Amino acid sequence: MGFRLLLLFSFLFFFFPYFSTQSSTLRKIRASVIRLPNGDSYGHPFDPTRVTQISWHPRAFLYRNFLTDAECDHLIQLAKDKLEKSMVADNESGKSIESEVRTSSGMFLNKAQDEVIAGIESRIAVWTFLPVENGESMQILHYEHGQKYEPHWDYFHDKANQALGGHRIATVLMYLSNVQKGGETVFPESEIKESQPKADEDWSECAKKGYAVKPKKGDALLFFSLHPNATTDVLSLHGSCPVIEGEKWSATKWIHVRNFDRSETTTSDDCKDENPNCPAWAATGECKKNPVYMVGSADGAGYCRKSCKVC
Ligand SMILES: *[C@@H]1O[C@H](CO)[C@@H](O)[C@H](O)[C@H]1NC(C)=O
Ligand SMILES: *[C@@H]1O[C@H](CO)[C@@H](O)[C@H](O)[C@H]1NC(C)=O
Repeated sequence: MGFRLLLLFSFLFFFFPYFSTQSSTLRKIRASVIRLPNGDSYGHPFDPTRVTQISWHPRAFLYRNFLTDAECDHLIQLAKDKLEKSMVADNESGKSIESEVRTSSGMFLNKAQDEVIAGIESRIAVWTFLPVENGESMQILHYEHGQKYEPHWDYFHDKANQALGGHRIATVLMYLSNVQKGGETVFPESEIKESQPKADEDWSECAKKGYAVKPKKGDALLFFSLHPNATTDVLSLHGSCPVIEGEKWSATKWIHVRNFDRSETTTSDDCKDENPNCPAWAATGECKKNPVYMVGSADGAGYCRKSCKVC
């Protein structure tokens, strides 16, 4: 244990300066991730001593009190009037579709929408060692009585979703509320599912089918959907058990293998559209109305360069 912790620390100190100088020059470079200042926009300091390992197969970790109560309440407040029925990605086409396997409601916040969200996003980057730009915007989910998400993988099966930002490498799932009963996150294929004691009446039947994590306000779960060799990890199968008593609020950050803000696959001699809707958008004048997304700017190429006829 002591050795692992030491290893973690040496990684932190060794790699962080490298990553920060390589990434966006707009972002402030900080010498020590441990000493993220308390009380400024970064809020809660990063504290690796609160992280425990759940399993290696899949790679999963739990961080106690990753968010403060005030941060949790703030996220719920931003989301609660904007919830819509949650969708899933169709296996073949990648289009968002409604499905009985996922019955929650949810919404997406914008990246760095306010100081609190920007602070949480930096804390996630520091914890996962994965850049902020590789993350999708945070999704807030609400599960009421009986609502659930059947076991699934966070990596995609379709080509369209894999194109932008590549596969999802990791997921950070933050619990924004306590749940009286049910609503556990369950890993049905975890190597240690048999060894978790479940005699306790508190666990739902669904939770007993795998390694389960009880939602606790402020806690965050990190798990990886890809192996270190970048192949998909089938053991990362996970679900949200039905809520039996109370309600469940959570926030999800999906992190990709590449920049998700802007596709890095597009280079100046690569003339293509990154989204199948590009021709339709271009036809309605989006190249002029929304040039940064469609055509690009000094920071990088846009998504619809072919349809906008700039290449
Ligand atoms: C999608 O495809 C995967 C792999 O082929 C399969 O295991 C899974 O059940 C499918 N999901 C749905 C919702 O059809
Ligand atoms: C990648 O790693 C996984 C887990 O260690 C292993 O099962 C798989 O065979 C590896 N695949 C390749 C192509 O190296």
